Amino acid sequence: MREEIIKMLKKEGTVPLSGEAIARKLGVSRTTVWKIMRALEADGYTIEGSPRRGYRMLQIPDRLFPSELDAKLSSRIIAPVPTYIHHHHCVDSTNNVLKSMADQGAPEGTVVVAEKQEKGRGRLGRNWSSPAGGGVYLSLLLRPPIPPQHASPLTLLAAVAACIGIRAVLPQLSPGIKWPNDLLLGGRKVCGILCEIKAEMDLVHYLIAGIGINVNTGLKDLPHTLQSSATSLKLENGDRAVSRVAVAAAILQHYDELYCEYLEAGAAPVLARWREYNVTLGRSVKIQNQSGLYAGIARDLDSNGALVVEGDSGELRPFSAGEVVFGTQ
Ligand code: BTN
Repeated sequence: MREEIIKMLKKEGTVPLSGEAIARKLGVSRTTVWKIMRALEADGYTIEGSPRRGYRMLQIPDRLFPSELDAKLSSRIIAPVPTYIHHHHCVDSTNNVLKSMADQGAPEGTVVVAEKQEKGRGRLGRNWSSPAGGGVYLSLLLRPPIPPQHASPLTLLAAVAACIGIRAVLPQLSPGIKWPNDLLLGGRKVCGILCEIKAEMDLVHYLIAGIGINVNTGLKDLPHTLQSSATSLKLENGDRAVSRVAVAAAILQHYDELYCEYLEAGAAPVLARWREYNVTLGRSVKIQNQSGLYAGIARDLDSNGALVVEGDSGELRPFSAGEVVFGTQ
């Protein structure tokens, strides 16, 4: 009902809509309408209400509410309808919330978004700083019909979707992908992705792609240790605030399109797009993984998305996991 009222008020624009008309259309009492208006105000919507003329929506908050995201989406698998989007003001981690939903049978395309995370998780056991209102913290659920050995391209797909989504909202910015799925602007990290899977040997039960973007985060909101290596869209946008709703919706929309293409055509188009937007290939890198540190030149991706690094004596070695540090060119 809340979503219906938002739609009705938006449709009327500056023309007031009477409480009675809304109540009649929804088959509820005027008191119920009044209560929903109060709840919307508590959520940050500015609604003008006059007893004689009715209600007008004056301002929409930049919060990741299903109705706001849905208004910008025309997706087939990822959040095809607003009920697939689950909004929270505060969670420990959107990946954790979605994981319990997935274990209870949530459908493919379910999305969890939060205004704030208290235990945002990053790759390789790190934390992800997730202050209220500063970033986009979202997780989406896929149930691809593949064995776990073939899941890597889907983690690269998340980076491509985030990269294209950000470029669509802010064409003046050109984020690039550092293998496997960090987005960098001017060499600083603006977006990180944590993909987690539940699988048996032959089949992925589900994959959760958790995407964190520093959108309106100020430098002082970031942990001290990250202040020289991280940035936000706002900082890169001449200190002008960026719509979190627009960024989140653009990423979901592009994720949907890329995932549909992946299901039809396989990993090759994803890898091609990753190459198009990457800032890794051709560079001197050190790659840290469980077996140590390896230095070389990042040459290409293999057909499964592993990073192929050329060592000192020309040998090529594929890495399917690890952390890339750029060396001198
Ligand atoms: C990284 O670069 O280390 C990955 C960061 C991933 C952060 C996102 S925010 C939404 C989702 N929920 C989490 O707890 N982590 C991911």
